[in-house]
Amino acid sequence: MSASDKAIQQQIIDAFNFRHAVKVFDPDRKISPEQFDTILEAARLSPSSFGFEPWQLLVVQTPEKRELFRDFTWGANGAFNGTEGQLGTASHFLIFLAHTDATMKHNSDYQQTFMKKVKHLPEDVIGFINQAFQKFQEHDFKVEGERQITDWSAKQAYIAMGNVMSVAALMGIDSCPVEGFEMDRTIDVLEQHFGIDPKLYKPAVMVALGYRADEPVFPKTRRSMDQIVQWF
Ligand SMILES: Cc1cc2nc3c(=O)[nH]c(=O)nc-3n(C[C@H](O)[C@H](O)[C@H](O)COP(=O)(O)O)c2cc1C
Repeated sequence: MSASDKAIQQQIIDAFNFRHAVKVFDPDRKISPEQFDTILEAARLSPSSFGFEPWQLLVVQTPEKRELFRDFTWGANGAFNGTEGQLGTASHFLIFLAHTDATMKHNSDYQQTFMKKVKHLPEDVIGFINQAFQKFQEHDFKVEGERQITDWSAKQAYIAMGNVMSVAALMGIDSCPVEGFEMDRTIDVLEQHFGIDPKLYKPAVMVALGYRADEPVFPKTRRSMDQIVQWF
């Protein structure tokens, strides 16, 4: 392995050790627009099953809009440690939405338009993908019904979220993934205050980004490699 390969390897491992779920950010430090563009680009370029990109991203920046989530976003409202939490201190706050069955069932308008306008695929290829995707949803992977299809979309959104956090860490930027919220009330707020139609999109996960206020209280622990990996 070359010296530069080794340096890259070390940089990656350092970034993964640096990343931890930050509970309180330094409210005075903001991510630069250029760095935040790179973070969004990491999400945009993320892989997805069949390449359908079944996610939307909301960047929630005004304190007023963030406060709408405070009562029921227990994973980011700081209630457990008496702080403003990630909602009140993060430089940037992202909400990943998952496409529902209305936008992600085979033959949906979104998919047909996506294949034509984004992928520029010819009609015969679109017909082939429609058939393959129908088989995938109904027979192979068994992703049918509103809940299953939305969950399947959310799985893809989590890949983008992972990339967002890893890329941020590589730039020395902190993050915290957030699943600690009430789904029903989040859907209501998104519909009433953000114009998100829950028939089309449902919240998947949130991510707060910024710079840590303090170093982590506990050292990182993980199972050992041999506890999680089996080679055959
Ligand atoms: C999908 C997901 C949801 C999470 N939700 C929350 C959350 O709501 N609030 C929070 O403070 N941490 C949340 N976490 C952080 C985890 O608790 C944390 O990643 C885990 O304990 C490992 O610690 P580390 O990330 O600091 O290494 C979440 C993590 C993931 C991956």
